[in-house]
Order: sequence, then structure tokens, then C-alpha cells
Amino acid sequence: MHKVTKAVFPVGGMGTRFLPATKAMPKEMLPIVDKPLIQYAVEEAVAAGITDLIFITGRNKRAIPDHFDKAYELETELEARGKTALLDLVRNIVPQGVNCIYIRQAEALGLGHAVLCAKPVVNNEPFAVILADDLIDAVQPAMKQMTSLFDYYQCSILGVQNVAPEETGSYGIVAVQTMTPSLGKVEQIVEKPAPAVAPSTLGVVGRYILTPRIFSHLESIPFGAGGELQLTDAIARLLHEQQVLSYAFEGVRYDCGSKLGYLKATVEHALQHPELAADFKAYLDQRCD
Ligand code: UTP
Repeated sequence: MHKVTKAVFPVGGMGTRFLPATKAMPKEMLPIVDKPLIQYAVEEAVAAGITDLIFITGRNKRAIPDHFDKAYELETELEARGKTALLDLVRNIVPQGVNCIYIRQAEALGLGHAVLCAKPVVNNEPFAVILADDLIDAVQPAMKQMTSLFDYYQCSILGVQNVAPEETGSYGIVAVQTMTPSLGKVEQIVEKPAPAVAPSTLGVVGRYILTPRIFSHLESIPFGAGGELQLTDAIARLLHEQQVLSYAFEGVRYDCGSKLGYLKATVEHALQHPELAADFKAYLDQRCD
């Protein structure tokens, strides 16, 4: 029986859709109200019992390690000013017993390449991949839902969601054999198909549990669409030799890699924020009259 204890966070993308904000920092450091996207992703992983956080960083790499590192000067300052609540907040970003590991992706050669960079640390274990720009609000965190399934099925699992038919060209799309309303056996996966040729409207969003066998496929596939090493291409080979499941998780997903999705997440989180909710709602009501 294997358990998922490692999560890979690919944060080495160019983030071109958010330029100039992402000129000097990764898009995963963009805040939703007061917390960066990457921290939401880390909290989701920790809630799923994951203890090794593996960040695949690229250019402008410093902000993420700095965020999860101890901040001596800031802590001393907050302590001196008696700001204990804020001190607790910055001290407990990473809980005890959780390790942060950083690997440099020297060139942004695609999501598949970023995942392959994790091989020396993941070794021969199943692992999670979390794309922080897909923010998922759920009663039970999405990755926790998936690790519970993994405990039972012991195979690769892809987080999926029904997407609008005209949007298939933005996702990896799967064809599945339905097992339950939320679970399917993946029979085919295609990267960003045009609506006319898409095998379904089930899109893979940024949550994966993968068996280590994926690495040998990532090592042998050619560079694909956009000159990048595509994770989808490696999964397409994996499913010829191992069972791969699709799982339509419970929760609301915001595509924070796009400006509109990012703004939607910001509004929803502001409306739930303990300090902001009332004033922000009053502002929106007045603005929308
Ligand atoms: P995206 O397709 O969203 O690309 O990457 P991007 O470069 O980050 O953003 P845009 O499209 O230019 O605005 C999907 C995920 O894969 C990571 C990204 O950080 C993001 O989490 N990624 C992508 C890498 O880590 N390395 C890469 O070479 C490419």
C-alpha cells in the first residue's frame, strides 16, 4: 500500500498573461486578497497529509523560497511591536514536520519538463502535482479527496471538470469509461483539441496524482505542442500500461492563470473574508445599482 506524501508545485512558467505583474515575480505569488496563490496550494497539500513540498522554480525564483522561509527581521519587528496575531500568521505558513525542497528548472520547457525535474526527489513513489493557478474552494480540499481515492485505487488520478464546449482548446481533454458519476477510467487524453475534434468536454485541471512510471515516459516523449514537453503526452502513454482514473472533484475552481478567473476568485474570497466581507458587499451593492 502506497501513500502520497510528496507534492510537486511547478512554478517555473513565464506567466505571460499577467505581464507586467509577472516580470519580476512568479504568477503564483499573486495574492487573492491577502494570501498568495502558492500558499493556498500548499495549504491544500498539507491538508491532504503531504509532508514534502517540491517547488520547481524558474526565472525570478526568489520570492517563493523567501515566502516559505523564516523571516527573522520581520518576526523580530512584529514581536517588538506586540503584533502577536501577525507574528503567528507569518511563523506558521509552513507547519512543523513539513519540508520545502526547491529545484531549478533552468529553462521553461513546459509542464512535463517541470514535472520531470522532480524525479531525483520523488524517486520511486507516487506523487501529487498541484498547479497553484488553479485555485479550488472546497469543503474537503480537492487534493484530500484525491489522496483518499488513491489510498483505495493505488493508481494515477487526474482532477477533471466539465468545461464549456468552446473551451476545449485550452485544456487536456479526456475520454473516459464512466465508473461512478464522478469517477472514470481514462481511455484517451488529448492536449488542447479544437471543439470539433475533442473526445469530450472533460478537461484536466491542475490536480494530478501520478505513479513514478510517468518519469520514463517524460524522458522518452518528443517535445510536443508549442515546443514544450507536454505532461499530457506522457499521460497518454502511461494509460496504455497502467490504469489512470479521472475524478470530477467537488468544489469550485477558479482559473487564476487568466485575468477574469483571477478577478472572480478575488471577489469571492473578499466576500468571505472576515474583515472585509460586510464593507466589500456594501460597496458591490452600491456599485451594481
Ligand atoms: P501555463 O500553461 O499556465 O503557462 O503553465 P505559464 O507560462 O505559467 O502562463 P502563461 O500562459 O504564459 O500566462 C501551467 C503551469 O505549469 C507551470 C506554470 O508555472 C503553471 O503552474 N510551468 C509551465 C512550469 O513550471 N514550467 C514550464 O516550463 C511551463
